[in-house]
Amino acid sequence: MGLIYVNPQGPDGNPDPLASAHDIRTTFGRMAMNDEETVALVAGGHTFGKSHGAGTEDNVQSEPEGAPLEEMGFGWSSTYGSGVGSDTITSGIEGAWTANPTKWDNGYFDLLFGYEWELTKSPAGAHIWHAVGQTEDDMAPDAEDASKKVPTMMTTADMAMRMDPSYNKISKRFHENPDQFADAFARAWFKLLHRDMGPKTRYVGPEVPEEELIWQDPVPVGNTNYDVLKVKELLSDSGLTIQEMIEVAWASASTYRGSDMRGGANGARIRLAPQKDWEANNPAQLSKALEIYESISKETGASVADVIVLAGNVAIEKASGVEVPFTPGRGDATQESTDIESFEVLEPKSDAFRNYHPQGVNIAPEEIMLDKAQLLGLTAPEMTVLVGGMRSLGISMNGYGLFTEDSNTLSNDYFKTLLDMSVQWKPNGTGNSYEAFDRKTGEKVRTASRTDLVFGSNSQLRAIVEVYAEDDSSDKFTRDFVFAWNKVMNADRFDIQ
Ligand code: HEM
Repeated sequence: MGLIYVNPQGPDGNPDPLASAHDIRTTFGRMAMNDEETVALVAGGHTFGKSHGAGTEDNVQSEPEGAPLEEMGFGWSSTYGSGVGSDTITSGIEGAWTANPTKWDNGYFDLLFGYEWELTKSPAGAHIWHAVGQTEDDMAPDAEDASKKVPTMMTTADMAMRMDPSYNKISKRFHENPDQFADAFARAWFKLLHRDMGPKTRYVGPEVPEEELIWQDPVPVGNTNYDVLKVKELLSDSGLTIQEMIEVAWASASTYRGSDMRGGANGARIRLAPQKDWEANNPAQLSKALEIYESISKETGASVADVIVLAGNVAIEKASGVEVPFTPGRGDATQESTDIESFEVLEPKSDAFRNYHPQGVNIAPEEIMLDKAQLLGLTAPEMTVLVGGMRSLGISMNGYGLFTEDSNTLSNDYFKTLLDMSVQWKPNGTGNSYEAFDRKTGEKVRTASRTDLVFGSNSQLRAIVEVYAEDDSSDKFTRDFVFAWNKVMNADRFDIQ
């Protein structure tokens, strides 16, 4: 039961099919499912099986995690009758949806549209809907004794498939066109089970479908046969600043999230809607840089995706004097192969690495920072060295935390200044900004955001900062920064991992 993500009885147990439709749409939308996919999944899933609510929940013992050892991970043992078969209690909802619950057929829609439905209660007391005047032929076999017929039912969530105007249109079409229903279910089921596997290049085995599906975020194979040094030379002479090249490379690569392996620099989708217009990406600066990158791409044969990453490397090499590793071969995706709506959820609401945290974002910036770092697969020292290094290069969209004089040199100065004990930090009342005052003169000397100060305030982060701030840590700092930067740039390079 703990796995059901929409209350089957309706929002907060209110048996209103239209309100339920609203919740279903939001929940399935988060899984990037549209209305057609949602109807196919719910109706197709409920073509099979039954729900279980033969008696009240007080007959059911602890859930698997809370059950004693001897339950061997099962839990939910029941004292109601035999506790199994027709006596099973799980959701509290009771009944199958169709007359043949072990067969794929059109029974779900036949019944949904073949009857009027009335709100009743299961033996467990849960809201369910029963067909008015159901014939015995349309009833389901009892779970244990197939010669006995029992009424089928619909949950409030199932009733939404008929009552919500958009779901209703799709349900009717599926009812009249069983082939379309079967195909839509097969596709939506495949998507449900594979959507978090990342690019198609990660699939193995003989059953990989040849067809390219838009939710796989397809990216063509990129060119590797071009002159990398020539691209770097053109970038170096492009007139773009170190900060512009770093910010664009970061904006491109840092969309990656290890939770479902979407986003990242490959595909250069930062050129396309919706990413090109995200506020965090500074659209004016982005379009200026992209114009230059596209012309370099045309001239050299490198993909724009590679040029974006190379530009970041050129900037860091200029600022550090250290070579940044690079592996060519990223491809450029097209707008047609980009599901705009499903990319919208990747938009950064806040990004500590760029000190971006617009007013009104109602979550602590340092918490989103940790989330972003784990989605990028970064360790605590990697997160720390990236924030410190980027800030030392003047990267801060809200202007806080810029402690260093020379923002064209990668250095550990940011960490040194952060640990400066001659100042007293005070919040200035805006929620995300703080001011440092000289303890002797009272003079205001610098400002910082929460995600700057957390590196001094949190004991574990402070310990890392203290290592990087040491006078003899400068080489280690640069080496670690380059390593972590490269890790983010290649987070989505499954072809070279
Ligand atoms: C609006 C979304 C959904 C809701 C509210 C919902 C709710 C439920 C509930 C309450 C049960 C009964 C559990 C029990 O008493 O043991 C159930 C069973 C089931 N659901 Fe769903 N479900 C939804 C979507 C889906 C989807 C998308 C699928 C698969 C594609 C699916 C497949 C099944 C199957 C096969 C069963 C029967 C399990 C059995 O026979 O033990 N459901 N669902």
